[in-house]
Amino acid sequence: MRVIILESAADIAVQAGNIFVELLKEKPDAVLGLATGATPVPTYKYLIDCYNKGKVSFKDAVSFNLDEYIGLNKEHPNSYYFFMMDMLFSHVNMRKDMIHVPNGVAEDIEKECRDYDALIEQFGGIYVQLLGIGTNGHIGFNEPSDAFSEGTYVTDLTKSTIESNKIYFPNGDMPTKAITMGIGSIMKAKKVILIATGHSKAKAIKAMIEGEVTPSCPASILQKHSDAVIFLDRDAASLLA
Ligand code: PGA
Repeated sequence: MRVIILESAADIAVQAGNIFVELLKEKPDAVLGLATGATPVPTYKYLIDCYNKGKVSFKDAVSFNLDEYIGLNKEHPNSYYFFMMDMLFSHVNMRKDMIHVPNGVAEDIEKECRDYDALIEQFGGIYVQLLGIGTNGHIGFNEPSDAFSEGTYVTDLTKSTIESNKIYFPNGDMPTKAITMGIGSIMKAKKVILIATGHSKAKAIKAMIEGEVTPSCPASILQKHSDAVIFLDRDAASLLA
């Protein structure tokens, strides 16, 4: 793991964003692994800015998002599909049919999981996977558990994740299950970028970087990835030795 500590979320956005800009320059049809949450928003804003300045094109790019809530369709304002359209895709020249987010309302959800993994493989695998981290050490919706997951699957959200995300559901109707790429899927990406900002992430970051590799901190598996870059602000890095 390469750990890079920067001054601000804006600096992280530029550095993380530039990895995608450079990748798309070299390989315009690259397969991008993308994430939702508050942390990647500045990175997406930076990418939109680069697109508006003619520095990057998404014309031939392909994307796969990590996860989606079970029970929310694409049009639901809290769905991750909606989030991605709103925060990035509707502002750049990405082809709509090249945008992939797991379908949280699939009739046969087990088939949806298998098909999602197969489609990633069909496109040749993910080049760069962007990740946030939960306060409990989750990546995607891979919650702390007894074993590392493999491919895409359906998971129950933990209390801590529900606590962190319920602010987005003021009517108290936050889903309690999600479909998520597994740890195995994430580890297959050629490069992984994890970004974290703020004090609330400091404990999870310490466990991920300095703790043992354990499914009780799913992000700790990144210690075993051959090309994982971790961008932190000072607050997120504040508990590191
Ligand atoms: P956040 O979520 O960026 O909204 O903090 C990160 C995550 O839960 O993976």
